[in-house]
Amino acid sequence: MNTSIIGVPMDLGANRRGVDMGPSAIRYADLRAKLEEIGIDAKDKGNISVPLPEIDSMEAEEIKYPKQIEAVTNSLALQVSKEASQNRIPIILGGDHSIAIGSIAGMKQAVGELGVLWFDAHADLNTFETSPSGNIHGMPLAFSLGYGNSNLVNCLEKGQKIKPENTVLIGTRSIDEPEKELIEKSGVTVFTMYDLDKMGMNRVMEEALSIVTSNTDGVHVSLDMDALDPVEAPGVGTPVRGGINYREVHLAMELIAEAQCINSMEVVEVNPILDSVNRTGDLAVELVASALGERVL
Ligand code: ARG
Ligand code: MN
Ligand code: MN
Ligand code: MN
Repeated sequence: MNTSIIGVPMDLGANRRGVDMGPSAIRYADLRAKLEEIGIDAKDKGNISVPLPEIDSMEAEEIKYPKQIEAVTNSLALQVSKEASQNRIPIILGGDHSIAIGSIAGMKQAVGELGVLWFDAHADLNTFETSPSGNIHGMPLAFSLGYGNSNLVNCLEKGQKIKPENTVLIGTRSIDEPEKELIEKSGVTVFTMYDLDKMGMNRVMEEALSIVTSNTDGVHVSLDMDALDPVEAPGVGTPVRGGINYREVHLAMELIAEAQCINSMEVVEVNPILDSVNRTGDLAVELVASALGERVL
């Protein structure tokens, strides 16, 4: 198995500084060494270049930094597509969740029809028109599905990148009203914490994996670390109580590995400034390893 690590030190889509240091925190937790240790070829391709919000000409408007995020997601998409075309699994390190626009566009170009597993406390289905915060990290799934009036829908190629029938959200527990409407209208599958509590992670993943692998050419895993309970992952900017626990999330990743369906993975929203001794960065590394096949026995 060959992987390419790509860092995206971007915080322009989130409302606090610090997620720009996510790639450093995950590298500090020895991602590459860990992957090599379990027999995976891992090349670190370095970071995508991201402009700094402190630069004078970058006044934040109501919607924050759409032009800059467009440029970053475009270069990420190109690199992701290039790695995937060479049969390497891109492992993308965020950065805020807006980078998913680029990861998904790149994978779509290289692989074709994509299934997406979106682990997140939030739905990230807002658009410029509905966002309560103006933060683009609350919008990437809407744009990837082709919704909203924004250039960010047209990353790499025009329009929709993924279909609702191939898209599954897991761990959701904070959804804005307009996002509820888009869930209803689009028909994406959502396994909220309620569903996880009722069904258990094993059954949720069985159903989720069957959805993302039917009529698709590949699967992208988008792991927002705030999907986890803040006790396990305190280093995130928008924590929500009552999340996925340590054992459940390992099981989810292990079931993904077992299904042998993964073509790319991103880990986002790691904020070392808010973390407790890189606990969230360390966990991110464990979870990538699990998703790529690490086993206890
Ligand atoms: N729904 C809220 C918003 O649109 C929060 C989004 C949080 N997203 C995230 N990727 N952490 O602002
Ligand atoms: Mn998110
Ligand atoms: Mn989130
Ligand atoms: Mn594990």
